[in-house]
Amino acid sequence: MVVILLGYMTSGKSTIGKVLAQKLDYVFLDLDTYIEKREAMNVANIFKTKGEIYFRKLESIYLQEIISSYQNTVLALGGGTPCYANNMEVILKLKKVTSIYLKVSLHELVDRLEKEKHQRPLVSHLKTKNEILEFVGKHLFERSNYYNQANLVIDTDDKSVDEIIEDIIIQL
Ligand code: S3P
Repeated sequence: MVVILLGYMTSGKSTIGKVLAQKLDYVFLDLDTYIEKREAMNVANIFKTKGEIYFRKLESIYLQEIISSYQNTVLALGGGTPCYANNMEVILKLKKVTSIYLKVSLHELVDRLEKEKHQRPLVSHLKTKNEILEFVGKHLFERSNYYNQANLVIDTDDKSVDEIIEDIIIQL
């Protein structure tokens, strides 16, 4: 099985993914890190030098590569991965893939992004908390259509990592 974690930036995909992989005795992969290794360039630099459209192509290519060649793996996507090309269709079509949306409230995301915006090219230019709120509010609304198609939706607000993992394992 391949367990795919999806959700907005700072929703905890990588943090939860690492622990979940350990519990299941699976391999853990993070799509951004995988792209960075294969392209020998970090995501912020890919955005800066090649542009977002190029990055979205890489995301689709490497997503396909991973889900067709890996077994017993937990894969954390980038926040935008489910929302481009036919990535969500590809994810939902394969029987061996279980997709999980880690749902976080808008206000919690804004608090987290205020602290962690620097490594993220889509939000690093936003200056005030209000600008972040306005941007993320619209963006999350657009993206939720894709995220909500996941096989499982886990509400993560006010839960510890262990509680989230327990919720996931019960439902897998
Ligand atoms: C993006 C999220 C990032 C990374 C890129 C674009 C997005 O991943 O893929 O900066 O479009 O939401 P994280 O969700 O791991 O921050």
